[in-house]
Amino acid sequence: MSKPAYQLFSKQTQAIIFNLQPNAIQRMLDFDYVCKRETPSVAAIINPSAKNGGYHKTFWGTREILIPIYQNIAAAAARHPKADVVINFSSFRSAYGTSIESMDVPTINTVVIIAEGVPERRARELAALATAKGKTVIGPATVGGILAGGFKIGNTGGTIDAIIESKLQRQGSVGFVSKSGGMSNEAYNIISQNSNGLYEGIAIGGDSYPGSTLLDHLLRYEANPDIAMLVCLGEVGGTEEYKIVEAVKEGRIKKPMVCWVTGTIATKMTGEVQFGHAGAKAGSSAETAEAKNAALREAGVIVPNSFDDYGDKIRETYEKLVANGSIVVVPDPEIPPIPQDLKTIEKTGAVRKPTGIICTITDDRGDEPLYCGIPMSKVIESNMPLGEMIGLLWFKKKLPAFASEFIEIVLRLTADHGPCVSGAHNTIITARAGRDLMSAVASGILTIGPRFGGAVSGAAQMFSEAMAANITPLQFIQQMKAKGINIQGIGHKIKSATNPDVRVTLLKKFARENFPVTPHLDYALEVEKITLTKRNNLILNVDGAIGILFLDLMAACGDLFSAEEKAEIIEFGILNGLFMLGRTIGMVGHYFDQKRLRSALYRHPMDDVLYDLPSAEEMGYSFE
Ligand code: ACO
Ligand code: LMR
Repeated sequence: MSKPAYQLFSKQTQAIIFNLQPNAIQRMLDFDYVCKRETPSVAAIINPSAKNGGYHKTFWGTREILIPIYQNIAAAAARHPKADVVINFSSFRSAYGTSIESMDVPTINTVVIIAEGVPERRARELAALATAKGKTVIGPATVGGILAGGFKIGNTGGTIDAIIESKLQRQGSVGFVSKSGGMSNEAYNIISQNSNGLYEGIAIGGDSYPGSTLLDHLLRYEANPDIAMLVCLGEVGGTEEYKIVEAVKEGRIKKPMVCWVTGTIATKMTGEVQFGHAGAKAGSSAETAEAKNAALREAGVIVPNSFDDYGDKIRETYEKLVANGSIVVVPDPEIPPIPQDLKTIEKTGAVRKPTGIICTITDDRGDEPLYCGIPMSKVIESNMPLGEMIGLLWFKKKLPAFASEFIEIVLRLTADHGPCVSGAHNTIITARAGRDLMSAVASGILTIGPRFGGAVSGAAQMFSEAMAANITPLQFIQQMKAKGINIQGIGHKIKSATNPDVRVTLLKKFARENFPVTPHLDYALEVEKITLTKRNNLILNVDGAIGILFLDLMAACGDLFSAEEKAEIIEFGILNGLFMLGRTIGMVGHYFDQKRLRSALYRHPMDDVLYDLPSAEEMGYSFE
């Protein structure tokens, strides 16, 4: 259904916003919400640098919606042919080009140019083009305008609270036009207090050559049967108001109109006065506010004595229209509660929100991260050993020096064990399959488990349970055998009693020299003595040595670890993290090594595979 020419906006109007303006968009959508619009007034956003488009996430009432982003107006208009307004937030440098681009799109009827400082020559060209194409330009240098209860341009009307205070969420009977955006907000409020409120308000912008004039909009209002009275706010400078005078005299404007031209103070000053707007200066005596107010009054326009009784004149005019039945007062519709941003209410202390995540080890909200309360800079300045730092982040403890040193020794000992072990092998194969560092190292880490590298926690668990149960090493081995479970931390593929693992030797030496007592190690070595009688490779392996010695370490720390904490450290598998962390160093190295070597895709040699398949007949198939 096409709109009559006098109607630029309706409750269905949708706009394309040029340049991402999150606040203006949110304000438009909040206005939509209080007006109970059925569709959002923003259909699309143009971001010239968004090559791949994308979406802007914003609130529509209480729920979130996505507004599509396009690289140019043509693309947006093609996808949103019902959007007939472009709100152009481009800078004064590009506003001309983007406005032309907007007017070239057949589905766009109105272009609002927000930028200040558009060159006057360009502004005149835009106005002429708009006339030629039968389109409307509002601005440049404007905040825009508003159809009360229907459609709001950008930041017009200010905050949602100000909008409600000025009753802009529902339709009144007053058509308003001014140059100034700031003054129009003030005027909306005055109108709301002295009449049944605004129907539509437009700020044409403060430049000397606006794309549309005060009279253009007044004539639209004159033609609109839903508008009963006109209110206008002129400004010192220019001769625009004389066109209104003519229109009134010629009977093209018949509806009652209250108009005040601001800037009467200018004549009280010596010399030429330039007000905030580019066009707000009187070049001749006819351009003064006084002269224009007098001409308007003389033509029959209701002109107040000063801005102070502007509201009174509006009220008088409005009351006459109510009295003669031209305006029928209807009750205000209910305003839906306005959703507020959580962050805003949180600041007032009126709400509390449960957090989704708890963190008790690191805080990154300040200038620098805190590791368990210790500022990062102090960690560095004090040359805190890596093991001590791991103690903070893993165990939330200030570990004694021997414990920190033990952790660092473990990291060095486990850093790598050649290309043939599961972790490095997987990393190498994955790297050779062309995958990235993370994938290759992750595939290596995934091999760490109860057979390879991940027996540290299991060993700590099994041995601590055996000792807590007060059973002998032999009973422990028998119980495990009866259950058919391999003792974690015992056994190695290549290391044996005759080919001892130097890592285990070093760990044992460190513990003997630095731990006061090593009851868990002593117990494990008794177990080893027995398992070695069965097979030469059933040694206490590196995983076992780490896990068991960590039990001795925690015991050596006195009260630092409570019984519950010790149990949790074992149960949650944290000790496997020591091997994982150390071995990651080697796996990164293997990934890089393969890349440096430009290694090709790995395929396992077929002669290294025993193929032992059943026959088709054995599987119950017969093929002729
Ligand atoms: N506890 C008791 N018996 C064992 C253990 C063990 N941990 N490991 C092997 N055996 C026995 C087996 O039961 C088997 O006995 P059987 O001949 O009577 O059947 C025999 O030793 C050989 O077993 P395999 O599994 O063939 O031994 P392999 O040498 O291949 O296994 C492995 C090495 C996987 C490390 C094995 O000893 C094991 O599972 N250990 C426990 C897990 C562990 O500690 N892994 C870490 C190793 S170190 C590292 O990865 C960094
Ligand atoms: C390792 O540290 O990776 C080794 O102990 C495993 C192995 O089989 O050598």
